[in-house]
Parts: sequence; structure tokens; C-alpha cells
Amino acid sequence: MAEERERWTSRTSFIMASIGAAIGLGNVWRFPYIAYANGGGAFLVPFFFALFTAGIPLMILEYALGRKMQAGAPTAFAKIGKNLEWIGWLALFAVMLIFAYYPVIMSWCWNYMLYSIRLDWGADANSFFYKNFLQLTDGPGDLGGIRWPILVGLAISWLAIFLILYKGVRIVGKVVIYTVTIPWIILVIMLIRGLTLPGALEGVNYYLTPDFKALLRPGVWLAAYGQVFFSLSLGMGTLIVYSSYLSPRSDIANNAFITSLGDAGTSFFAGFGVFSVVGYLAQAMNVGVPEVTTSGVSLAFVTYPTAIKLLPFWASLFGFLFFLLLLTLGIDSFFSQVEPFVAGFTDKWRFRKETVLIFVTVFGFLAGVVFTTRGGFYWLDIIDYYTCSFGLTLVAILESITIGYVYKTWRLREYINDVSEFRVGRWWDITIMVILPLILGVTFILELVRLVRHGYGDYPTWASLLGALVLVLLIILSLILMKIKGREVE
Ligand code: PFF
Repeated sequence: MAEERERWTSRTSFIMASIGAAIGLGNVWRFPYIAYANGGGAFLVPFFFALFTAGIPLMILEYALGRKMQAGAPTAFAKIGKNLEWIGWLALFAVMLIFAYYPVIMSWCWNYMLYSIRLDWGADANSFFYKNFLQLTDGPGDLGGIRWPILVGLAISWLAIFLILYKGVRIVGKVVIYTVTIPWIILVIMLIRGLTLPGALEGVNYYLTPDFKALLRPGVWLAAYGQVFFSLSLGMGTLIVYSSYLSPRSDIANNAFITSLGDAGTSFFAGFGVFSVVGYLAQAMNVGVPEVTTSGVSLAFVTYPTAIKLLPFWASLFGFLFFLLLLTLGIDSFFSQVEPFVAGFTDKWRFRKETVLIFVTVFGFLAGVVFTTRGGFYWLDIIDYYTCSFGLTLVAILESITIGYVYKTWRLREYINDVSEFRVGRWWDITIMVILPLILGVTFILELVRLVRHGYGDYPTWASLLGALVLVLLIILSLILMKIKGREVE
């Protein structure tokens, strides 16, 4: 029985929802910290390279796949080949890992919104973040009990998502018009303040000066690809399911360009704000720019508060608004993580959407609890690294091989060109079939070898291994889900 699929009310609402999914904490929190951890300017070359060799081509692919197959990721892959369904599930599990920790970052924002009222972080936002707020333990082996304010923030985030998603995809289109545009204005204000601080230029220099030696490190490349996937919400089924709600004959290629360039532009822009404050901090602390903080994950929660505190007037108000707006940026990205999961299950089995939604909310919340502990910060870092550097890249490799060699790129390209505002050339086939799998495959393997030898960061080996184990388990689970019988796929 073919039931009516939900539809976007207009092209604008689809584009806004895709941009809303793309632009989020990934741009203002993750991009600056990954750039910082990978050498600042050293990162920009691989980042833009990854955008053009993987981000945009893969977005065209995912839009086309969802539009054509009219289904979420698992069913879309099952329609290509019965044994390929697991790739779709793997994408959903990658996104599941993300929606376990993403709302925890949102919870930090909820808390910082309140701290803004009295500018509680004082002169030293760095130690406030670790000592007062996170109350960080010595290592991932010591969880140290739950930090209640973070847990409460997590619960609020999930409640908000539940209420929004319950209303369905139409409301998503309406909400995001505001959540995408307003935060930009505040980012501009932060940038102006950041750039006028003493030392700011040092930071910006560090951000913009390429370091070609770093290009020899496969980890930097993998981080760049991982960041592009995370930020554009690729390899997670989000865009597949969003475009499956498009009505027939809506454009694909132009939409993909608008979304990707809008997203990458926002990251690049947010980088200036963050790095100018890093430059200021470096000067104030009398250290070099790379020594400002040892852990990148905290970067945004040190630099933004510092800049806020230094605003000449209405600092509290700006602080409050800034974190509120960061939340609005995050919230549409957050519900775009949950939606594909719900669609994956309702497409394959005849579950009611509401039932799956309740299940995902409860389960997602519980999965996030570990990150709200005093040692949770370490786990967030580890899981984030594995998911983006390995999980998303693996899905991307599998997607491109499937379309390139099983479905055939020219077939999908003909379809894309049939409906798009401009034609996509042969370059797309070559990127999907050769360039993307080759670069990703090689960097993936090289980084894996390095990981086996040296582990990740300064963490004990068992903690790094646990991260890898989670990924392997999810691959197995994807295969199991594929084997469970669901509706017949035509
Ligand atoms: N792209 C979002 C961001 O940059 O914040 C994060 C995200 C959205 C991840 C959707 C995963 C996803 F499915």
C-alpha cells in the first residue's frame, strides 16, 4: 500500500531546511576546533579541497538518491540492491552516534546562556570551563558522576526536539527561516569585537597561513573530509530523507551548490571570530597561538565567552543572545539527525512515526547520559573523532562505490540533469567513481595504521580501542537489521 509521503510546502523551505541541517554547531563549535587542532592554516587547503572533491559531489548524489528512490537511506539502498541495505543503516548509526553527543554540546550552550547573565566565567574562561563547569576528571577511565546542570540541559534539548518533530516536516521548514538567519547577525558582531582586540591579527594569521608540511599528514586530510561530511550532514542519511520529501521535478544540482557553499562560507567566517580571540588570548597569556589550549573541543566555549566579556556594553545581553542563537543554529541540525532515523524505521517496517519518535527520544537521551558525567568530555572527544574520521568517511566511500559501480553514475546523472537548473558534467562521474574513493580510501587506511600504532590523542590505548569497537559493532548491527524482514521493496 503506497501511503502519501510528506512534502515540503515550497522550494525555499526545502533549501532552508537543508541549510538548517548543515549550518549548526558544526560551523561555530566544531570547525574552529578541528582547524585549530590540525594546525590552523594547515587545515584550510584540505578543507576546501574536500569540499569540492567530496562535499558538493556527494551532496548531489544524496539529493538525487533520495528524490529518485523516495525513501530514507536503508530503503533507498535496498532499491539499488537487496544486499546493500546495510549501507543505509550504517549511515543511520553514524548519525545515531552524533545525536548521542550533539545535544550535550547544546546543553553546554543552555548553561552558558544562563552564565551569561552574570558573566560567571570571569577573567579566565578556560579554567572556568574545565574546573567549574565540567569539573573534569583525570581521564576517560574516571567518569566521576553526573554533572546535573548538563543532564538537565540534555533533557531540555531532547524535549524540544520531540515537540518539533511530532509536528512533522512542514513545521521544520517554517522554524528554520529564523534559526538560520538571526545567528548570522550575532556572528558578525562577535567578529567585529574579536578583530579589534590586541593580538587578534596573530590569531588570524595562524588561521590563514597555509603550512604545506602538514599536508603530508593523512590525519589532517581525514579530519578535513570528516569535517566536511559532518558540517554538510553527509553520509548520515539526512539529506537522502530530506530530498525524498521533495516533489517530483524539483531541482537538485543548484540546491546542492547553494547549500554547500552557504555552509562552508559560514564555517570560514566563524573561523575568523574564533581565531581572532585565540590570538588575543595568546598575547594575554604570553604564549604562542598553538599553545592557548591543549584540547580543541573546548575552544568555542573559551573564545566566545572571552570575547563576550570584552564587549564595551551590554555584554550580558549579547552573551545571552549569542548562546540562545547558537542553540537555534543547533536545534535544526539536531532534528535533522533524528528524522532520518525515524524515516529509516517507518519506511521498512509498519511502525507508527510517533512510536519510533518516542523510542528514539528516550534511547537518544539515555545514550547521551555518559557524556554528561565529569569524565564525559573525554568520551565526547573520542566518539566525535571516530564517528567523523572513520564512520562518515566509510559511509561516503561505500556510497560512491555503490552509485559508481552498481547503480552507475551516468544513470543517476541523467536523472539529475533531467530535473536540475543546470547540467552536471562528466566531472561528477569521475569524482564519484575515482577521486573520492581513492583519496578517502588511502587516507582512511593510513590513518588507521597510525591509530593502531599510536592510539588517539593522549588517551590510554583501551579508550581508543573502545571507540573503534563501537564502530565495528554498528557495522554488524547494520548487517543484522538488513536481514530482518520488512516491507517488500519494489
Ligand atoms: N551539520 C550539522 C552541524 O554542522 O552542526 C550537524 C549534523 C546535522 C550532523 C545532521 C548530522 C546530521 F545528520
